[in-house]
Amino acid sequence: MPDIRLPIHTERLRLRRFDASDLAAFHAYQSLPETARFLLREARTYTQSMETVGRYANFAFEKEGDWICLAVEAKDRPGLLGEVVLKWLPGEGQAEIGWIMAPEARGKGYATEAARALLDLGFGELGFHRIDAKLDALNTGSARICERLGMRLEATLVENWRYKGAWSTELIYAMLAEEWRAGVPT
Ligand SMILES: CC(C)(COP(=O)(O)OP(=O)(O)OC[C@H]1O[C@@H](n2cnc3c(N)ncnc32)[C@H](O)[C@@H]1OP(=O)(O)O)[C@@H](O)C(=O)NCCC(=O)NCCS
Repeated sequence: MPDIRLPIHTERLRLRRFDASDLAAFHAYQSLPETARFLLREARTYTQSMETVGRYANFAFEKEGDWICLAVEAKDRPGLLGEVVLKWLPGEGQAEIGWIMAPEARGKGYATEAARALLDLGFGELGFHRIDAKLDALNTGSARICERLGMRLEATLVENWRYKGAWSTELIYAMLAEEWRAGVPT
């Protein structure tokens, strides 16, 4: 894999490496049960947030299982708005994308804009063949992001997840590099 050139600039955002100064803002949204509602883990404790920001700040993307974890901030207003991640999956050319935004940064299209830039990186510089997203069918905000990105709904796995005391249906969206190159509807 080539070196990842950061920051990445989009129309309104800067995607950059995390640093220690992000901890307070990171913990503010990561500690909310509402943020973790559709994640397969609980809201983070302060210690977990500290460990996670440390790991994100020092990520290396060299082999299967590694993650790119980028801080999202507004170009005109430094400060953490959320994060987008790309995980290198087992199997040739496979990756998974994900996103989390702070409540005050939602409803502005920032997650979609940041995810689009990460797909660009994944399919462009990094040369992945296929990128997917896995989500709870009740997570309509995430499903709308996938649709806006032009990802295809490939699977509906009925009640194959049990977490937070309930059965959940998983949706898998995906896109191929050739589809990305062919252009994404906006
Ligand atoms: C999932 C999540 C990132 C979605 O955030 P979001 O802000 O709704 O997503 P976007 O950034 O793409 O914003 C889209 C919304 O902004 C609106 N918007 C406002 N101004 C906009 C602009 N200039 N450009 C684009 N969209 C704009 C869109 O109309 C859209 O609203 P709608 O969904 O009501 O139609 C957020 O709910 C979240 O962080 N949830 C908790 C973590 C989580 O579940 N992560 C995913 C696990 S699979």
